[in-house]
Amino acid sequence: MADIEGNKNAKQFAEDVAFANTGDFHVRGAANLDWGMKDRLSRIFRPETGKTVMLAFDHGYFMGPTSGLERIDLLIPRLAQYADCLMATRGAIRTSVPANYNKSIALRASSGSSILQDDLSHESMVIDIEEAIKMNASAIAIQTFIGSDGQKETIEALNKAVNLGSRYSIPTMGVVAVGKEMERTTRFFLLATRMLAEFGAQIVKTYYCDDFEKVVSACPVPLVVAGGKKVPEKDALTLAYNAIQGGAAGVDMGRNIFQSEHPEEMIQAINKVVHEGLTSKEAYEFYLDLANENLQVGN
Ligand code: 5RP
Repeated sequence: MADIEGNKNAKQFAEDVAFANTGDFHVRGAANLDWGMKDRLSRIFRPETGKTVMLAFDHGYFMGPTSGLERIDLLIPRLAQYADCLMATRGAIRTSVPANYNKSIALRASSGSSILQDDLSHESMVIDIEEAIKMNASAIAIQTFIGSDGQKETIEALNKAVNLGSRYSIPTMGVVAVGKEMERTTRFFLLATRMLAEFGAQIVKTYYCDDFEKVVSACPVPLVVAGGKKVPEKDALTLAYNAIQGGAAGVDMGRNIFQSEHPEEMIQAINKVVHEGLTSKEAYEFYLDLANENLQVGN
């Protein structure tokens, strides 16, 4: 291990220079991967835009029936058609998502804690790779707690997923957790996202932060941005807009969609930002117009 005393701060991020090794493939860092990996990544990231709208509804795995997700069987089928990828547990998907929706799946494959505990950072890989294959998963999602008590075990879980995923060409999505007391600084996200990419994750899910362009530049795989706690729709659309402008390859949004007053309209507005380049103002107007229209026709 290099001596970190007197280590120079990283600063040459060349944010305005595009990622170099793209080959002829639309997903960052994936040019050298094999056909199966590319096929699965193309189900998540649309080839036309290179981006994705993931709908995250995996919250129940440690929070139980979260607000908005009390009845996944009723809500998710209404939203799924507007998502490129569904991020959830095998239990939620098998029970509540019709198999003929044919959506790509980012299968939540790590767990170990619940909100009854103070320290949520202890997770391991709990899904067999055969199970991911049976569910036709396009990615396996593993949460990591960099800088927390559970760092070592979650790094091991991520590496295990990458090893098994490589065997069967299933990409791993490394999820950067920000639990209680955890840093949310640019320095932290630079470190955590890069670590996950270096471990071999083909996608990294993270949070938006100051100097997000630097975080994107230093991470050789696509970053998708989590929504975080519920904020007004306008603010959530601004977050999505800023993330996309900063170089994110999409969003993986949960509460800001399913806790919205108008979840179906909200996910469509998010799509407009991610895939059609609408500004947050334009997307918010779209959201309001669509919600009004649907109220009038009684949808
Ligand atoms: C938790 C997750 C969630 O999927 C993530 O937090 C996204 O949901 P939200 O937009 O509600 O934050 O990865 O570990």
